[in-house]
Amino acid sequence: MKKAIILAGLAMLAAIWCLAPGGAWAQDKTAPNQAKVKEFRIVRGMSPQAQACIECHKIVSPGIFDDWAGSRHANANISCLDCHQAKDSDPDLSKAHQAVYEKGDNPWSKSEYMTPIAGVVSPKDCSRCHPDEAKQYSVSKHANTLQIIWTIDPWLNFGLNSGLERVNGCFHCHGTVLKQDKDGRLDPMTWPNVGVGRLNLDGSKGSCAACHTRHRFSVAEARKPDTCGQCHLGPDHPQIEIWNESKHGAIYHSEGAKWNFAAAPGTWTPGVDYRTPTCAACHMSGSGKVLTTHDVTERLSWELQAPLTIRPQDFKPWPAKSSWQEERAKMQAVCKQCHSEEWVKSHYAQMDGVIKDYNEVYFKPTKAKLDELYAKGLMPKDAFFKSPLWNEFYELWHHEGRRARMGAAMMAPDYSWWHGFYECKKRYVKFHEEADRLIKEHKKAYVAPYFPGATGNTTKPPQIFGTKK
Ligand code: HEC
Ligand code: HEC
Ligand code: HEC
Ligand code: HEC
Ligand code: HEC
Ligand code: HEC
Ligand code: HEC
Ligand code: HEC
Repeated sequence: MKKAIILAGLAMLAAIWCLAPGGAWAQDKTAPNQAKVKEFRIVRGMSPQAQACIECHKIVSPGIFDDWAGSRHANANISCLDCHQAKDSDPDLSKAHQAVYEKGDNPWSKSEYMTPIAGVVSPKDCSRCHPDEAKQYSVSKHANTLQIIWTIDPWLNFGLNSGLERVNGCFHCHGTVLKQDKDGRLDPMTWPNVGVGRLNLDGSKGSCAACHTRHRFSVAEARKPDTCGQCHLGPDHPQIEIWNESKHGAIYHSEGAKWNFAAAPGTWTPGVDYRTPTCAACHMSGSGKVLTTHDVTERLSWELQAPLTIRPQDFKPWPAKSSWQEERAKMQAVCKQCHSEEWVKSHYAQMDGVIKDYNEVYFKPTKAKLDELYAKGLMPKDAFFKSPLWNEFYELWHHEGRRARMGAAMMAPDYSWWHGFYECKKRYVKFHEEADRLIKEHKKAYVAPYFPGATGNTTKPPQIFGTKK
């Protein structure tokens, strides 16, 4: 830690570093968005201003200093200024920070060290040195989730929850639209926030810190399941619970503490560094001939979260650019690092069976009955969560229907059956009993005259959708 700082102090000469980790970068034709040669670009030197950041923050916020000092970045002489630097004209410039140079309360508080900075560090800032990761991430569902949810979600489009409920719920996972007032202070209703699809003041989308927390920016941390489990949990997308239940999770919990999560980027090897896969190992990390990706839609062949399960290239709000067969082959290649062809094919056959079963036996008949209620005027089309009967329909696909499908996809029998199909059956009976009664008696479904907290703004973010309504 000390050594890093001394080194930093000495490196006053401008230096141009280009680190290109060696090794065979087999160009796989199934990864079109991957550059041919992986590069880390650094064009920099350490100015007195950059040194001042480190030295003053060592005093005012030792926690931040310490995290940074223990990072690969500090080791490679990447300073605070490399990420936080801003121009006076930048929309995310922190005007408040200029004042710290006028206080004179420590040796680094001098006007000669004054440098404009931004508090927000966006994917655009990281992309200076990590262009491949930033590019892949920018086309992912993660980075573009605000566009997706504002296209399909009734909570937002019909204002069914309040701004406060969104800020503390939806937006911490999906991301917020950052706002700054004219004095350069970030709006507390939008900040802090590191949601995967955050819309930044510089126009870039997402937050790399959703998985690589500051200021360690550790690749080991991102490879662990807890990173993803922060958002991928709960009744409607319980991936972490599913994984914990799977044999893969069980083995990790028993011996994972001894595995090598800190292998250099691109070298993390199944069977050598770890015995069973984490979320990242299946969905993102390089494995055999499959290259690392920051686009989590790669390797998927279904949209398991959707009401009716469809192929990713048919998902209208954000269609995948490649075919599902191509992506399935990538995921299966990951499995085959540790399993036989037969084992993997059979697992997929079981999963495909579950999806067909869910679509045909549970979802389609229930949706058809709901459409009948709409057509007969027994339920208004905008009933949504105000109608207990509509909620039965919603939870059938959004909660247990997802659990049944995802439990099967990721090897968790309890989720596929007890939290999944068993609950689907209960819900099915309840929904159809009530719907049939209404149709028979030609009675209208109950719709609450008042719904609490339905005060949310219904204007889609103009930065994404333009100003036209
Ligand atoms: C003389 C001490 C000092 C120096 C030099 C200094 N900072 Fe700060 N910085 C502070 C203090 C104090 C705060 C907290 C200010 C506050 O509470 O608003 C702060 C806040 C910040 C924040 C939080 C974001 C914000 O808008 O408030 C960032 C990011 C930051 N500093 C980065 C830097 C960088 C990068 C440099 C070097 C260019 C730097 N600092 C130099 C003292 C300093
Ligand atoms: C690799 C890029 C990177 C480097 C290097 C870096 N930061 Fe940051 N910093 C970030 C990111 C990302 C955030 C989170 C802000 C966001 O979500 O946009 C952040 C946030 C901050 C904040 C506000 C966070 C809080 O908890 O209040 C401060 C203050 C800060 N950085 C200071 C520093 C200082 C001081 C250094 C050098 C010792 C430094 N940063 C080095 C990327 C970096
Ligand atoms: C000025 C160039 C530069 C910027 C800006 C930069 N990085 Fe890095 N980053 C590097 C270099 C160089 C390395 C390799 C360091 C090493 O291992 O020696 C690295 C390594 C990493 C690693 C791998 C760490 C590990 O544990 O092996 C991650 C993750 C990372 N950076 C994320 C980020 C994120 C996120 C941002 C933006 C918030 C960012 N970087 C901004 C240059 C930069
Ligand atoms: C705990 C984090 C979290 C919270 C809180 C959260 N979501 Fe999500 N949401 C997710 C995750 C993770 C997924 C992806 C599920 C999947 O693909 O299996 C998702 C999926 C979705 C989808 C489906 C997107 C698609 O591609 O079909 C919509 C719509 C959505 N969320 C809207 C919302 C809204 C609106 C709120 C607040 C009312 C909200 N979410 C709250 C994490 C969250
Ligand atoms: C959804 C979580 C997630 C997000 C968001 C994310 N990363 Fe990563 N990142 C990972 C994982 C997992 C790895 C480890 C891959 C491996 O095993 O080598 C990684 C690895 C890296 C590495 C090491 C080199 C490599 O490609 O393996 C860099 C650099 C990096 N990320 C930068 C970024 C930048 C820059 C952003 C934002 C543009 C970002 N990451 C956003 C999960 C994420
Ligand atoms: C800060 C919250 C957050 C974190 C952390 C996070 N995700 Fe997500 N993830 C989401 C949200 C929100 C969505 C839904 C995006 C949408 O469909 O609109 C999502 C969607 C996905 C999808 C579905 C993509 C698709 O095409 O349907 C996969 C796979 C995924 N995430 C994997 C991961 C992995 C692996 C990690 C950890 C390395 C991770 N996520 C970390 C919030 C998060
Ligand atoms: C053994 C490999 C493996 C592991 C480990 C794994 N997954 Fe998956 N995941 C899959 C497979 C296979 C699918 C279904 C792929 C398809 O669509 O063909 C899937 C699907 C998903 C989806 C997509 C759901 C949708 O909406 O379409 C998300 C999100 C997801 N996984 C997140 C995670 C998270 C988070 C973890 C860790 C807690 C995790 N996965 C662990 C293999 C894995
Ligand atoms: C890093 C190695 C590794 C990878 C990659 C991997 N697995 Fe596994 N998997 C294992 C190990 C080890 C076991 C435990 C075998 C045992 O029970 O003896 C296991 C168990 C399983 C089981 C048995 C579950 C049970 O409850 O008995 C299934 C099914 C499975 N894996 C499917 C897959 C699929 C599908 C993929 C790819 C999407 C995959 N695995 C990727 C190592 C791996």
